[in-house]
Amino acid sequence: MAFPASVKLVEVGPRDGLQSIEKTISTEEKIQFINMLSSAGLPEIEVTSFVSPKWVPQLADAKDVSQQIERNEHITYTALVPNLKGLEGAVESGYQSVAVFTAASETFSQKNTNCSIDESIQRFEEMRPVWEMNNLRVRGYVSTCWVCPYEDFVSVEKVADVVQKLVDLGIQEISLGDTIGKAVPDSVEDVLESLLSDFSPSLFALHFHDTYGNALDNIRKGLEYGIAVYDSSAGAIGGCPYAPGASGNVGTEEVADLCAEENIVTGVDRVLLEKAGEFIQSITSEKEAAAS
Ligand code: HMG
Ligand code: MG
Repeated sequence: MAFPASVKLVEVGPRDGLQSIEKTISTEEKIQFINMLSSAGLPEIEVTSFVSPKWVPQLADAKDVSQQIERNEHITYTALVPNLKGLEGAVESGYQSVAVFTAASETFSQKNTNCSIDESIQRFEEMRPVWEMNNLRVRGYVSTCWVCPYEDFVSVEKVADVVQKLVDLGIQEISLGDTIGKAVPDSVEDVLESLLSDFSPSLFALHFHDTYGNALDNIRKGLEYGIAVYDSSAGAIGGCPYAPGASGNVGTEEVADLCAEENIVTGVDRVLLEKAGEFIQSITSEKEAAAS
């Protein structure tokens, strides 16, 4: 299949990129980073998460960040939410787009959200009336679609089963997560071959962490299959605190360059994106040096 003519880059740096950093990044620094990403024209920015501050202390300022960023009407601002309480927080903070998250492996689901996969789906059922009443756009993450840090390889059947449950909930975009960066082009092909026999490529986004340097090749494979939405993080920062071995998301800069090479439109201002990536790298490397 020909590559898509245009691609949507979902910038997850302010959430996935920052959530694991131990030393607190100030609310002002987060706001500056997000405003720089908005200036760079990223079409969607995952701003923060409304999760338990005991589980992810770095994002305890979700409400303040959300209230103080400058919003551009052409950009979708999304908040990650694990349960009804998180969803209510996101609604109070004015979000029209939220992302829920579950996994294809049981142990990761337990470690990350203290519940089984089925219980996570029940939480989404409880949230559904609220997102429907508020007419929210809902994205759903499925973590560990290839390899789980606790259970190793995950079967395609398990991924397909969770995807079907999210579709049944009316979720409009499903992001397939390679949580610890162990997918390779052949395994990406296996999962996509299987899923695309039942679902349209337009349902999916791909979310690659770049622990072993495979993310760009995996994205090329996704493009071959017509997937047109990719999650990435400016400055390639990031990782999940409950996934040992997770390193940063693939860099937004690298994905933008890959798209430019292939004449795929992203609409992103590459110079302003570089500045946002350099800014957050300078902040996170300072914090990591101070913490070590
Ligand atoms: P729990 O401890 O089972 O929750 O955690 P609970 O319902 O028993 O509540 C315990 C306490 O947490 C209570 O407070 C609640 O009010 C509070 P207390 O009475 O003890 O003072 N609480 C909350 N506070 C704020 N916001 C909330 C909330 N919910 C409960 N929404 C829970 C369950 C889901 C809350 C917890 O496990 C959690 O927050 N997990 C989030 C972990 C996380 O954020 N992981 C990283 C994001 S996922 C990721 O990175 C993967 C992804 O990038 C894709 C990929 O790469 O694969 C998306
Ligand atoms: Mg992630």
